[in-house]
Amino acid sequence: MKSPDLSSVYSPSHAIQNRAYVASLDEYLKIYSGAIEDPVQFWEKISKQFFWKRQPTGPFLNYNFDLQKGPIFIKWMEGGLTNICYNLVDRHVQDGYGDKIAYYWEGNEPNEQKQITYQALLKDICKCANVLKSLGIQKGDRVAIYMPTTIEAIVVMLSCARIGAIHMVVFAGFSADALTERMIDGKAKLLVTADGTFRGTKFVPLKSIATQALLQCKATGHPINHCIVFNRLQTTKQTEHIPDIPWDDAIDHSWDALMASASDLCEPEWVDAEDPLFILYTSGSTGKPKGILHTSGGYLIYAATLFKYAFDYHLEDIFFCSGDLGWITGHTFNVYGALACKSSSLIFDGIPTYPDGGRFWDLIDRYQVTTFYTAPTAIRTLMRLGSSYVTKHSRASLRILGSVGEPIDPSTWSWFYQVVGAKRCPIIDTFWQTETGAPIICPLPGATPLKPGSATLPFWGIVPTIVDDDGVEIIGEGQGHLVIKNPWPGIARTIDGDHQRFESTYFKPYNGYYYTGDAAKRDADGYFWIIGRTDDMLNSSGHLISTAEIESALMQHPSVAEAAAVSAPHAIKGESIHCFIVLKHQSVYNQIIETEIKSLIRNRLGAFAVPDLIYPLPALPKVGSGKIMRRLLKKIVRQEIHLGDTSTLVDENIIEQLRAFTLNKVKIF
Ligand code: WT7
Repeated sequence: MKSPDLSSVYSPSHAIQNRAYVASLDEYLKIYSGAIEDPVQFWEKISKQFFWKRQPTGPFLNYNFDLQKGPIFIKWMEGGLTNICYNLVDRHVQDGYGDKIAYYWEGNEPNEQKQITYQALLKDICKCANVLKSLGIQKGDRVAIYMPTTIEAIVVMLSCARIGAIHMVVFAGFSADALTERMIDGKAKLLVTADGTFRGTKFVPLKSIATQALLQCKATGHPINHCIVFNRLQTTKQTEHIPDIPWDDAIDHSWDALMASASDLCEPEWVDAEDPLFILYTSGSTGKPKGILHTSGGYLIYAATLFKYAFDYHLEDIFFCSGDLGWITGHTFNVYGALACKSSSLIFDGIPTYPDGGRFWDLIDRYQVTTFYTAPTAIRTLMRLGSSYVTKHSRASLRILGSVGEPIDPSTWSWFYQVVGAKRCPIIDTFWQTETGAPIICPLPGATPLKPGSATLPFWGIVPTIVDDDGVEIIGEGQGHLVIKNPWPGIARTIDGDHQRFESTYFKPYNGYYYTGDAAKRDADGYFWIIGRTDDMLNSSGHLISTAEIESALMQHPSVAEAAAVSAPHAIKGESIHCFIVLKHQSVYNQIIETEIKSLIRNRLGAFAVPDLIYPLPALPKVGSGKIMRRLLKKIVRQEIHLGDTSTLVDENIIEQLRAFTLNKVKIF
């Protein structure tokens, strides 16, 4: 295929503009400047589209982004009473949309299918809310969810929201240790899981992992007394691959049994706009994950607005986001934003390559998907398999494509645009983070001319800019650290249980700004091009993992004395994980240690964090203070010739040793 012309700009087609809420760049710009001039008026008007039991009593927005003035805080619509579940479901049923499909679900196998209307969803949520209450869950309690992408997982999330409980979804690819750590940190009172699921032909033993985690919680003095188990495997045909599922009558409850006897009426709990809605863990620069906390009111209006405008969602659309519910993408676009807009969405508990590489395109045809949102790593995987998997399906229903999770390189963009979207569908490259709640930089389908590889322009009300290493703002064209000048309703409010860490991670690096941790370039048209993380964070297959988390897992191996993890570019995953280790005295590196280290990381963090390569070294490169010079290791694995300033290294001889190791590709045995 012809490589894309990087200077080319793709303007919205008439077909897209004809239906769009915002049909020109001028209109977008006009609304943008209005929202910047008066953010309160802008968001107040939007907030009126939702149900409030009581309107906000204090200032609509109250915040401090300046550490010199005092603690950081962000409050929107304080004093307002609402319930997000009521806004997402009850209201639509009352308005006559009870029979509209809220979700189509398809499992790993193409014949595993379910669907649910808004009316039925409401009943299930009420039942589940009553179940949670009967097990002692009240407003403010934390409920851990370790489930595959299913309608039932969404029911649990919304039933928490209905009674004011706080959900903490832990991605079902995490290990028992990772689940334990999050349940303890978040003080979970109850766990909801499933018996298991399949990824292609591979069985994922969710209940066994959950049981292990529950035992670990108990052993460390944090017992969790109830575990609800959804029978996900009831629809699979691969029954011969299912091992025994552990069961303990003292704490385990069957989902089916509890739901069967619960009442389908449950009054929503009216909560303050600033009451917590959920906690979602994300990697941090230390070994400890951060419990990002989002609140009810601000997150609701921000998620809803982004769903409506970024995807130009109309009632007849079928939205399909391939993201897992365990990540923020799943929360915001499969659940909160989608339901707020009365959407009909497809959710999928499977992988794009099973039963073959045409699965996504088959789903798109069968469910008549109009809006397809996925990650560059998935697109690259499918691109490698060849275009024929795509072209043998019609895809005629598609109108809009979306990308999230990492920068999309122009050739992947081009394949997505030309082959998947048949040059008809704009690609909405949405830049955001767990912390931002929803996209903050992204095009609008009918308004924004696209440049392949750029997330384009800020959403209404967002003022991003770039600063140099000293925090000096760069005006106009340039490259630097991406920061945001002002608050928006969907920004996280704190790190659960550690507000100081929230301040020092996001506000201290460049006082007065929210710091994203990403580098970005701004071009002459004001378009933003995200370059990637500048902190010690790896982005492998769209999963953000800190080097510290991998390193602390590596250090648990009895033979490892020191460890450093860095990323290297990878054709499919975006980045791969390369680890350098120094072995303890008298230990010898061999295949057994390598296998042990890999399985240790799999157990400690999950399969997605297993390193692609492990290099044993006699010593790590360090500066005088003892800090590992990861910047140097990164350049070495990228085979870069210019290593930058290495004068602060304690032992410069290490460079030649490093080169020798990496050039040998380190298959040393
Ligand atoms: C990091 C946040 C937002 C949902 C998924 C990830 C990277 C995200 C883009 C994009 C370039 C992107 C950034 C960001 N990222 N979207 N469109 N272009 N980079 O959420 O795990 O909190 O990761 O993902 O590096 O900081 P997350």
